[in-house]
Amino acid sequence: MQTRLQEMKESALGQISQVTEAAQLQDLRVKYLGKKGELTELLRGMGSLSPEERPVVGQLVNEVREALEAAFSGKQKAFEEAALNAKLSSQTIDVTLPGRPVPAGTMHPLSRIIEEIEDIFIGLGFEVAEGPEVEMDHFNFEMLNLPKDHPARDMQDTFYVTEELLLRTQTSPVQARTMLKKEGKTPLKMICPGKVYRRDDDDATHSHQFTQIEGLVIDKKIGMSDLKGTLLTFARQMFGENQQIRLRPSFFPFTEPSVEVDLQCFNCGGQGCRVCKQTGWIEILGAGMVHPRVLEMAGYNPEEVSGFAFGMGVERIAMLKYAVEDIRHFYTNDVRFLRQFNRG
Ligand code: PHE
Repeated sequence: MQTRLQEMKESALGQISQVTEAAQLQDLRVKYLGKKGELTELLRGMGSLSPEERPVVGQLVNEVREALEAAFSGKQKAFEEAALNAKLSSQTIDVTLPGRPVPAGTMHPLSRIIEEIEDIFIGLGFEVAEGPEVEMDHFNFEMLNLPKDHPARDMQDTFYVTEELLLRTQTSPVQARTMLKKEGKTPLKMICPGKVYRRDDDDATHSHQFTQIEGLVIDKKIGMSDLKGTLLTFARQMFGENQQIRLRPSFFPFTEPSVEVDLQCFNCGGQGCRVCKQTGWIEILGAGMVHPRVLEMAGYNPEEVSGFAFGMGVERIAMLKYAVEDIRHFYTNDVRFLRQFNRG
């Protein structure tokens, strides 16, 4: 038996060394070490050995098995290395080829304006708040002193989801939400940028979806002068040190008194031109002192505190600042338009 083992080892090693393909190697492995392989067969014969012979032969079997396994895996490794080398030499990399450029996008002009405005107001101590775009009638209208029969609540102007749910028509509901969250505490200073929706036919100056930034301040002894000072500071940081603003009386249900705020035309410096339609002024936002009823509904005592609010259209400001003639450019994702805002 020992001689047979030796012979088997010799011939197996001989065959392994001559193998030229991985598949052949696998066949050989089965032939010798497999379940029905030659070594296994020999092991079966061990039953007929004498007890003295058994451990000697057993040890020899193990040695043979180890030798064969080492030979198999050595050969296997050699095959893998050869395959890798072949692959490496067939796929040489030309490190002198120019790289493939990765096109980088640019920040959207509206995002850029929003960030600029946020930075200005954060500098003035405002917090940035957010609110839902699918809003309850309650917050979009009721809490803002817009009674049930107010024309703005008409189906013609508002996208209703259900009778009580709608796409917000303004960022002003975030005023109400923020006040409620603050539970009557002062000071409250927040701005809220976000998308709003109105049933408009889209054209060069109208879009059924656009962007507003709402601002709200509530504290003791807040007056119209605070509103004007804040907006003047904003206008100067946004449009230039020498900017002037003008307040005109207006009406919003949630502010009293209400104003519309004009910016001195930056195109002509107030002389009158095409941009300002010869008036020297450009309307940029609506604002006013928070209506006492709105304060009250949101948990503030109008006898003790007062506040101002304002709301502006981001597209309008972007159009003015970058001389964009059609609001639809902001939404149609024409990269030729967007690339113009890439300042690296
Ligand atoms: N929500 C008003 C609008 O959409 C703007 C506004 C906000 C006016 C806050 C006054 C105060 O026209």
